[in-house]
Amino acid sequence: MEFTTILNPESSLNVNEILEEIQTTSPRYFLEQGNFKGWIITRFDDVSALLKDSRLTTGNVGAFIQSLPESQQRQLQDLKTLSQYSLGGGGKEQHKRLKDLYREYFTHKYIESMRPEIAQICQDMLANIETDDFDIAKELTNPLPAYVIATLLGAPQKDWHLFIDFSRKMIGMFVNYTLESYLEAQQGFMALADYSRNLIEIKRQNPDNKLISFLLKAEARGEISVDEIITNTAVFLMAGHETTSQLLNKGIHALHNNPGQWKKLYEDQSLIENTVRELLRHSGGALWSRRIITEDFTFNDVEFKQGQMVFLSLYASNRDANHFENPHELDIERENTQRHMAFALGAHYCLGAQLALVEAEEVFKQLLHFMPQFEIDEKNIDYFLSPLLRATYLSLPIQRVMNKNTDMINSAVLEE
Ligand code: HEM
Repeated sequence: MEFTTILNPESSLNVNEILEEIQTTSPRYFLEQGNFKGWIITRFDDVSALLKDSRLTTGNVGAFIQSLPESQQRQLQDLKTLSQYSLGGGGKEQHKRLKDLYREYFTHKYIESMRPEIAQICQDMLANIETDDFDIAKELTNPLPAYVIATLLGAPQKDWHLFIDFSRKMIGMFVNYTLESYLEAQQGFMALADYSRNLIEIKRQNPDNKLISFLLKAEARGEISVDEIITNTAVFLMAGHETTSQLLNKGIHALHNNPGQWKKLYEDQSLIENTVRELLRHSGGALWSRRIITEDFTFNDVEFKQGQMVFLSLYASNRDANHFENPHELDIERENTQRHMAFALGAHYCLGAQLALVEAEEVFKQLLHFMPQFEIDEKNIDYFLSPLLRATYLSLPIQRVMNKNTDMINSAVLEE
């Protein structure tokens, strides 16, 4: 089989088949497609080793912009300038300094303390749904993670909807590597930067216990600059919105397609944590982490050259049969779900992992009561394809099946 289409958005549609074939026949595969040359790595052990290998660095926005002709680079100058202040945009020392600082705020205890607030946001959004036919992506799963990030920063509720617009524009960077999608992303980035500048001034006058105020204290100590605060606000929204929305959407879809698992969860809600981790493993995460090789070295049987790009497949690792028995099966009682790779590993391990888990646990807990039985109108699902996140759902139409006795899940609906 030729694997040259693997990075095309359309390959997301039959990604299991392609990745399984690569994993079995060419686990370290050198892809040459047009101008692109780079490695596709698909086995759990390889991906795990390379995520922890300091000879690989993250590719950043600036790297793509630099690959464009001069005239196009000029059009993206604002984005290029701001991106150097991001967590991953200014080298290892900057990354460590900023990540250590953010980790002080993102403690397990603090994120747990956000649980009631997140539960309340979810409850309020569900309370607005008045019919049994509704679009859960529009009503809940797509906006909620953006609202949570707005809350985390300390933005007032009247502004939460703005974060959806900022995010929708910025996601262009992950959908297509083209000038147009980057120009749109730049617009979103600059709009959010203006908003953040304003919010920073408000928080200087009226500090609270939210992230921006915490960062302003660090700024006063000389540990972070205002540009870094602004840029990383955008990084958080980009990293934490669509990823979490898609975990929720794909999770709902996967549980719908495995009604026996939904029933099991309904009957034993102590399985919720394991269910969320299994959903991350099975269907929730991104396809790839991208890296760039910084020096020549031999990795297992292949020669890595400085400057080459490496695509590490988190998704294929999560379905590696050497680590997960019957990997394509959704099994909410699987024993080793905590080994999933959806948040990556090593220095760039997801900063928002705990937050995403809390959000997903709260949402699924409430959905068990809100729609103990449900159908998905498959024909009217709307999504776009992305080489990073696979299908990104814009619309996920649900029909809630409410029996008089909603405590019982109807076994007829549950046949697999
Ligand atoms: C289901 C939801 C999520 C998934 C699947 C996810 C996945 C990931 C992955 C795979 C990485 C590593 C990228 C790499 O190796 O290059 C990452 C990094 C990151 N994530 Fe998440 N993420 C999620 C939610 C969040 C949330 C809610 C936030 C913040 C509010 C967040 C913030 C970040 C940040 C800041 C990084 C960069 C860390 C670094 O470079 O050191 N993520 N995420």
